[in-house]
Amino acid sequence: MIIKEYVKARKVELKDLIAKMDRKPTLVIVQINDDPASNAYVKGKLKDSAELGVEAKLIKLPESTTEKELLKLVGKLNKNKKLDGFLVQMPLPKHINEDTIKLAISPEKDVDGFHPLSKLNPCTPQGIMNYLKAENVELKGKNAVVIGRSNIVGKPMAKMLLAESSNVTVLHSKTTRPDFERYIANADIIVVATGKQGILDESYKYKDSAVIVDVGINRDETGLHGDAVPNLPVRLQTPVPGGVGLLTRLALMENLLKLHK
Ligand code: GUN
Repeated sequence: MIIKEYVKARKVELKDLIAKMDRKPTLVIVQINDDPASNAYVKGKLKDSAELGVEAKLIKLPESTTEKELLKLVGKLNKNKKLDGFLVQMPLPKHINEDTIKLAISPEKDVDGFHPLSKLNPCTPQGIMNYLKAENVELKGKNAVVIGRSNIVGKPMAKMLLAESSNVTVLHSKTTRPDFERYIANADIIVVATGKQGILDESYKYKDSAVIVDVGINRDETGLHGDAVPNLPVRLQTPVPGGVGLLTRLALMENLLKLHK
């Protein structure tokens, strides 16, 4: 199914589920930057919340906010019993350590699933797994290649595919071209999350039956582009825009409902 339709259908289910709840799920988004990408993400998260019946609030703070001030707010939100979950939008200004903030958020409120003790997974790989399952993509015993090793996508994605018994290989910036060619030619599932536009192109051989999940969000004057060039000769390739971004937003709502329980 096209991602847009899958997300639309799943949102209807979540909306019905929330409508039946005695207490509406509640979400706080803390934003301490004003970059266009973060503004777009936050806008999307607020829009989804409104659509589904989630009570969401944005706390937008100036860039001059100190780490101490942010930690104080995080402490307050951790203790707020009326709140199901919250997130601090990344990236943070340079004078605030992102890991310090991620570790300060209580795993019980960590809707992003960033804390090492969180029972939830980060939204992007979780959203991708949900979609692959909805699409009945066979994972067990299949060759999965993850390109990129970030803490919020590549590493958790590899772990989650391994948990589904895929044969997982992680490629990265130090992988040689011949190795790229070899692994990609044998891949059944490719998740590409490098932030390098067009890193996957027609110069590689793919299995006809391969599934490419494109996590790239590369912006230029002409719009948004993925890490893969469009229309590669494979069975399924997720588009950018209208692909993984929507799955990530959906997974955030799913994570919030898990915290609400
Ligand atoms: N910045 C880009 N993606 C994310 C995300 O999933 N969560 C947060 N908190 N910040 C982000």
